[in-house]
Amino acid sequence: MNIFREIISLGFEQIVFCHDRESGLKAVVAIHSTKAGPALGGCRMRDYASENEMIADALRLARGMTYKAAVYGLKYGGGKAVIWDSPAAGNHTAKFRALGRFIEGLNGRYITGLDMGTTVGDMDAVRLETRHVTDTSGTIMAQNDFTADMTAYGVYLGIKASVKHRLGCNGLGGVTVAVQGLGKVGRRLCGYLHQAGARLLVADVDERAAAHAVNAFGARQIPADRIVRTKCDVFSPCAHGGIMNDRTIPKLRCAVVAGAANNQLGLERHADLLRARDILYAPDYVINAGGVIITAGELDGGNEEELRRSVETVETTLLNLFRMAEEKGITTLEAANRLAERAF
Ligand code: NAI
Repeated sequence: MNIFREIISLGFEQIVFCHDRESGLKAVVAIHSTKAGPALGGCRMRDYASENEMIADALRLARGMTYKAAVYGLKYGGGKAVIWDSPAAGNHTAKFRALGRFIEGLNGRYITGLDMGTTVGDMDAVRLETRHVTDTSGTIMAQNDFTADMTAYGVYLGIKASVKHRLGCNGLGGVTVAVQGLGKVGRRLCGYLHQAGARLLVADVDERAAAHAVNAFGARQIPADRIVRTKCDVFSPCAHGGIMNDRTIPKLRCAVVAGAANNQLGLERHADLLRARDILYAPDYVINAGGVIITAGELDGGNEEELRRSVETVETTLLNLFRMAEEKGITTLEAANRLAERAF
């Protein structure tokens, strides 16, 4: 990878390569933008196959955070820390303390928090070295997966907005939603949808997760390899990225794609393909922003009720974005990008 070419073309401010000999920490802190405020974005820990893969992940995630914060006019920019290691490897306290020292050296330009592969205990270790960290013990976000719950709440409101725009329905009574992935977010999303009267079709590669949704929400289980091509009003990807691609888009039998998964589109041009099929796409980084909205809110001193209310902006933001895309004859992704790029 030609790093300077990448960071110039993607508009990055700073990339910090971190190494701590004692703990064995190898990490990258990628700061995409601090124009609106300190760069916000969690810390991912993963045993990447290569250095290039690790750096590419850090860059993609950090830039995504800037866009996510910008669409919602948050006073924060985008960044991400990535540790190149298996979460199962030992020595966590020493590694995360070392990361904390590097973050402290950035003087508040970057604030870290939870992401895939990291725990509240890891953030507590970071906190021993710096105050520029969220999701530590005792914070609202560290309790009962509050971040996942608020992400799910935002996705639920985003589905309501999408259905209103595309199908003209006020509310979700009788609307069929196919949820792919019933983990921390998907399972909670099913709860909100069920309460609103939606009919649920669910799939997970983990049989227990699917059985739980069937029992708790009266959902109908669909085999995991068939959920993408199941007839429904809304397809809601809540498992992994890249699910919208040349192979899957022609098979979709839905009017709306609206889910929590990050990086749902294999490539940006897949937004055009969805539009050509008259399928309304709720851009992933807009509909799944509940977590970052409440992180910003808690940093600004909000209580739990205020944080929950702040997520409601997802519904109005998506409605405005859908209107803008229609008026300008562009994809919803292009509309989201334009909205974000105005802010930084
Ligand atoms: P999770 O790891 O708790 O759940 C993912 C679920 O998907 C698991 O139950 C897994 O068995 C299932 N799954 C994996 N492959 C599958 C397949 N091929 N078909 C069906 N199910 C499959 O993850 P979580 O936290 O629920 O996140 C879900 C998605 O939402 C991820 O893409 C994540 O990046 C994104 N996201 C999560 C946020 C959060 O607050 N947790 C915030 C924003 C985005």
